[in-house]
Amino acid sequence: MTGAGAQGGAPGSDRRVLVGVTGGIAIYKAVELVRGLAREGFAATVVTTAAARRFVTPLTFAAVSRGPVLDDESAWQSTGGWFEHIDAAREADVMVVAPATANTLAKMAAGIADNLLTAVYLAFRGPVIVAPTMNWAMYEHPATQENLRRLAGRGVEVLPTGRGELACGEEGLGRMAEPEAILAAVRRAFAVAAEGPLCGRRVVVTAGGTRERIDAVRYVGNRSSGKMGRALADEAYLRGAEVTLVATHAVEGAPYTTVPVESAEEMAAAVRESTAAADVLVMAAAVADFRPREAEPGKIERGQRETLGLELERTVDVLAAAARPGLLRVAFAAEAGPRIDRAREKKAAKGVDLLVFNDVLAEGVGIGADENEITILTGDREIHVSRRDKRACAAAVLDAVEEALP
Ligand SMILES: Cc1cc2nc3c(=O)[nH]c(=O)nc-3n(C[C@H](O)[C@H](O)[C@H](O)COP(=O)(O)O)c2cc1C
Repeated sequence: MTGAGAQGGAPGSDRRVLVGVTGGIAIYKAVELVRGLAREGFAATVVTTAAARRFVTPLTFAAVSRGPVLDDESAWQSTGGWFEHIDAAREADVMVVAPATANTLAKMAAGIADNLLTAVYLAFRGPVIVAPTMNWAMYEHPATQENLRRLAGRGVEVLPTGRGELACGEEGLGRMAEPEAILAAVRRAFAVAAEGPLCGRRVVVTAGGTRERIDAVRYVGNRSSGKMGRALADEAYLRGAEVTLVATHAVEGAPYTTVPVESAEEMAAAVRESTAAADVLVMAAAVADFRPREAEPGKIERGQRETLGLELERTVDVLAAAARPGLLRVAFAAEAGPRIDRAREKKAAKGVDLLVFNDVLAEGVGIGADENEITILTGDREIHVSRRDKRACAAAVLDAVEEALP
C-alpha cells in the first residue's frame, strides 16, 4: 500500500483514507464517520461534491478530520491546474464514498469524471467502499440496482442499506449503513490488503440460543444473548473473511450475510447450507439439547389445569450434521463449573479441531454477559484467556483458528 503524502489528516498516520462525500441527507452520518476515522488514527482526506457542500460546509469536515477538504473549487484553484485528483488518489490506501447518492453511483458505474470526487475514483487503484443511501423508490429503480451490480462486479464493496423510516418520511430500504459499520468496512479493507490467514476464507458463525416451540406463542429457550457469536463474526469480517452469521436474534447493522433462524432444526439446515463451501464453522450458539416432542399449532389454554407436562426429545446435533472433510470446526462447551476435564472429553467425542471451554457458573462472565473467560483447546495446547470483553476473546479464538488452518 502507498503511504506517506502531504495531504494531511492524523499527523504521522500511514493509514490514509479518502472519504468521498456526496449530496445525500445522510451526510450528517459522514461527519460522524470522519470523526471516527480521525479518532482511530486514520488520516482522512475528504472530497466533497457541490451538492454535499450545500448540506454541510467544508469547515465541519476539516474540524473533525483535522485534514484537508477538497472539492472542485480547490482543484481548479491549485496552481498547477487540476491535478488534485491524481495526487489524492495516489496518496490514499482506501477510498470510501458515504453517503453515496444515486447520481454519484451512476457516474462511478459509467466512468464519468465531471467533478473532483468522480475523477479521484477513476484515478484510484485501491479498495473502494460505497455506502448508498436514498429514497426507497430511487434505490429500487432498475437503473440504480444495475449500477450497484456493475460496481460490485468490479470489486467495489457495496454496503447494504437498512430498512426503516427514510428522511423523506417514507418507509423502505435506503437508509445508509451506520458510521460504525462503515468504519468496520474500512478496517477490513486494510486487513484484506495485509493478506492475513483468514482473508478470503469463508467463515460461518452461529449465535444465540435456539427457541424450541411449545405452542404458537411459547418456547423452550435459554439465556444466550448471542454476543459471543456476534463478536466472532465481527472479528472474522475485520480479518477479511467472507462471513455468514446464523443467528436466533435480530442482528443490527452487520456488514456481512446474516441468516435468521429459530430452532435447532432450522439452525442445522442453515448451517448445512452455508457451510457447503465454507472453510470454518464456529458454533457459538447455545443449541437446545431437547425440544417438545409435539408443538401445539394453537395456544395451550390454562383452563382448569394445575400442571402441564411436556415430553421432550433430543434435537439434531448441528455440529455433527455439518461435519465434512476440509471444514475446520470450532465448538463451544459451556460447563457448569470449572470442568475442563469434561471439555477435553467433549473435544475428543465430537472430533472438532478446536474447542472453547467456558464456565457458565463463573460470576460476571459467559452467558448474557459482556465479558468471558475461556480456555481454547487445540490439538496440542490449552490456551487460557483470562476475563476480558468478548471482542478480545473472539480475537484469541480466531488467532487459534488462523494457526489451525491448513
Ligand atoms: C434535501 C435533499 C435530500 C437529498 N437526499 C438524497 C439522498 O439521500 N440520496 C440521493 O441519491 N440523492 C439525494 N438528493 C438528491 C441529490 O442531492 C442530487 O441528485 C444531487 O445532484 C447529487 O449530487 P452529487 O451526487 O454530486 O452529490 C437529495 C436532494 C435534496 C435537496
